[in-house]
This record gives sequence, structure tokens and C-alpha cells, in this order.
Amino acid sequence: MTTTLWAVADLHAAVKANGPKIEAIQPSDPSDWLIVAGDVAEKFDLIVRVMAELAGRFDTVIWAPGNHELFSRSADRYRGREKYAALVQAMRELGVHTPEDTYPVFDGVTVVPLFTLYDYSFRGAGMSVDEAVSAAREKNIMMTDEFAIAPFVDVRAWCWDRLAYTTRRLSRIEGPTILVNHWPLVQEPIMRMRWSEVALWCGTRHTRGWARRYNARAVVYGHLHMPGVTTVDGIEHIEVSLGYPREWQGTPRPTAWPYPVMEAGA
Ligand SMILES: [Fe+2]
Repeated sequence: MTTTLWAVADLHAAVKANGPKIEAIQPSDPSDWLIVAGDVAEKFDLIVRVMAELAGRFDTVIWAPGNHELFSRSADRYRGREKYAALVQAMRELGVHTPEDTYPVFDGVTVVPLFTLYDYSFRGAGMSVDEAVSAAREKNIMMTDEFAIAPFVDVRAWCWDRLAYTTRRLSRIEGPTILVNHWPLVQEPIMRMRWSEVALWCGTRHTRGWARRYNARAVVYGHLHMPGVTTVDGIEHIEVSLGYPREWQGTPRPTAWPYPVMEAGA
């Protein structure tokens, strides 16, 4: 049997109707690997429970956090950076690879889970961040991130910390990579969204050159809930999100799900 590297994102496990979809994420061989590119759920215990199930099914599981993993309320035990640190600890206890760990190598290709967040840099030319967010608010376009992440951490400062940390580690990798991030690394797929204001919460301009610079065979991401493949500079950027039932019910997917990123020996 061949060993396959599969990828999913945006499981949104708190939504009951997504349960059978999550149940259906199964290896075709016990040696298969699974990438989970964020938005498993919001509540700490649910995230850990779902990841424990997946870790029990696959030989190796790789996780990158999404914005929903970071959601908190003021009364929560963990918020902001503390919530991420606690999740990393919990994933390690499950044997799941996080963006803080040694990057695993699948058939000679380094699989790199990233955590780069967003910094509002996908905004209109000449606009300040405050102006761009206010303009979105006036159109009633406001991501939950503003209420569930931003009150507990300086998001832009955290994003830039992550970029510095990540490029330092990426530059030490030799050979081909598969880059895994919740947020897209390039703007092209974001430009196809119906509401251009949502782009503010969809990533950062600073990751644009990463796929080529760090020798990516493919980039795997989620977040937009618009599954499909976008080729930029000759490299495929593959959105592997499940999303909400209203998004996946009755809509034929352009790509397989879970998505087979590569096979060993292929
Ligand atoms: Fe999502």
C-alpha cells in the first residue's frame, strides 16, 4: 500500500452537521499522514477532543491554528497568546506536530505548519488600519476576530512576531517543502471573495514570496471557505476547507476532500 499525505481545514466541529464529515476523515492506509490547517473549533476542550480522535486514526498529524482556535471570552481560562501556548502543549501531549516543533519530513519533503495570523495589510491603498476597519464596520462587515481575538492581544504585533520567528526557521530548511497555514499566503484567492473588506482579516502581504523562496511543492491553507486550487508563480495554493453546512451542502467541490497532497514514492 502507498502512504498518502492528506489535508483538511475548517472542520468547525461545534456545528453538529459537520460531525459525519469529521467522522469520514479516515486513512486509506494506517501509515497515512493528516494535515489539519486550522479552525477545528473554538472551545479548548472540543479542539483537543477532535484532534485526539484524528491523532488516533493517522500515523502522523500536523496542526496549524486558525482564528477560531484563538477565539476567547474575557472569562475564559486562556486568552490570546496564552491560549495558543496551551493548545500547543495539548497537541504535543497528543503527539501532534505544531508550528513550534521540529518539522516532520514526508518522503523527503519537509511539511511546515505555519502560524502567521493577519495584520490588516490586505487593505485599500492609502488607508490606515483604523480607516479600513471603520469602513468595513460601516458596511456591517466585521469578523468575529474583532471581538474574540483583538481585545486580548495586539494582533498586528503578534503577526509580526510570528513572521520573524517563522522566516528564521524556514530559512534553515534544506530541500522541498509543503507550507501549511490557516490563512492564505497570497492575495489571489482572497480577491475572489464577495466582500472585499473581509480581506483585512485574511492574512498578511508579507508572506507573498514565501512559496517560491522556501521551495514549496505546494501550499495548503483554509480560512476562506472557498475550496479550490490557485496557481501562483507555478506553485499550487490549495484551499482544503470544509466550512459550514450551508457552504458544503449541495455545492459540488472542485477538489477531493480530504485532499491528497502527495503520495510517498510518487
Ligand atoms: Fe473557518
